[in-house]
Amino acid sequence: MQITHDGKLEIGGCRVTDLAKDFGTPLYIMDEELIRTKCREIKASLAKNYPKTFVAYASKAFCNLAIYRLVIEESLGVDVCSGGELFTALEAGVPREGILFHGNCKTPQEIEMGVRVNVGRFVIDNLNELDLVSKAARKFRKRVHIQIRLNPGVEACTHDYIKTGMVDSKFGLGIADGQAMKGVEQALASEYLILEGIHSHIGSQIFNIEPYILTTRLLMDFMGDVKEKYGYTLNEINLGGGFGIKYKTTDTPLSLDEFSKKVSQVVRESCHTQNLDLPCIMVEPGRYIVGEAGTTLYTVYSIKDIPEIRKYIVVDGGMSENPRVSLYQAEYEALLANRASENPTETVSVAGKHCEEGDMLVTDIKLPKIKVGDLLAVFTTGAYHYSMASNYNRYPRPAVVFVKSGLADIVVERESYADLIAHDRIPAALAMTDAKKVCPLR
Ligand code: LLP
Repeated sequence: MQITHDGKLEIGGCRVTDLAKDFGTPLYIMDEELIRTKCREIKASLAKNYPKTFVAYASKAFCNLAIYRLVIEESLGVDVCSGGELFTALEAGVPREGILFHGNCKTPQEIEMGVRVNVGRFVIDNLNELDLVSKAARKFRKRVHIQIRLNPGVEACTHDYIKTGMVDSKFGLGIADGQAMKGVEQALASEYLILEGIHSHIGSQIFNIEPYILTTRLLMDFMGDVKEKYGYTLNEINLGGGFGIKYKTTDTPLSLDEFSKKVSQVVRESCHTQNLDLPCIMVEPGRYIVGEAGTTLYTVYSIKDIPEIRKYIVVDGGMSENPRVSLYQAEYEALLANRASENPTETVSVAGKHCEEGDMLVTDIKLPKIKVGDLLAVFTTGAYHYSMASNYNRYPRPAVVFVKSGLADIVVERESYADLIAHDRIPAALAMTDAKKVCPLR
């Protein structure tokens, strides 16, 4: 990302003013090269510190055919957490053996789909799922490779809604209450399941190393206990995702090298003291891979100045393509994309177009004096924006473009009004009403 000599924001060699002309706004712009860099960085960082590692991209962060193509080109595996994500991954040509199938409430249909297509690993969340997967495996006469998701009882320091490792969580089988060991016993008793390893994902947008170290210790101790109790060696320790990224200039994310170094050290030490073979260390980053590569581009359509109180600038997007502000009080940096080198002179708040007061994008940000028609770029919107977008107020979802070396490719088309009603149906009785006759407004 850079600013051209005439003050335009440029991403992946494309001027965003041109992107706005060609594709309209709001627009999700993804810097392809940055996504590739992140894939390479995380793989290299782990490989530098440990002999057996595996990185799967958590596709809930940003899911479509193109991103799956990109991450497989970068030799990453893929984490899917629904039949829909699995379907998209398969359509994109993701090798089945590289797919980890997550989800805390997989339906029998989703389970059969995963078994039929031979996903690489089922990550089992609960005892009922264990039973369902075992039955589906028997039905299709297949052996299914699984990991069991454990709840380590570790509280990560992040927003409450995205903490998942504490005891009072809907995810995973508790280590402390014995459920996890029950899961192991049940898995080992099934002739159709091959228990490969254990998994834990303690939350998202995490900045400190301590909860990861603690989780790694607890999982390794658990591996030791399994060996002692059943004489069974687990081959894989999957630590999930959660690596925090920089939304604000003041954010201080965890260094991946520190993560790789410290976690692999804990694994080695633990293997040594418990006489275990070194397992494969697996991670599933989502936000880390795509978050910083994303920028959302808006047009300013209105300005409301309430003297002494607040100046609102209103843009053509909001909580439908960025629900993270209302959900997690997320904060962002933004820039005037068409006058990017001008000095900020006034403090404004960026409001969305939806019918809710809470529909804000950025509160109190310093920008140059804004005019209607200006283009606003909001940064770090690559993860959990497009994938969580809605049609609230029946706004069509924006297009997504990949930019690289001065070229822009559409990877998701902008929705049309026709798309919005494509699944609507009018029951026969309602279709017969003569709307003109009953209209109360004349
Ligand atoms: N693995 C599992 C099992 C997960 O549930 C998740 C995310 C990940 C990996 C990837 O986590 P990441 O590396 O992206 O932090 N919508 C929220 C984030 C929800 C995360 C859900 N699980 C947000 O916008 O902040």
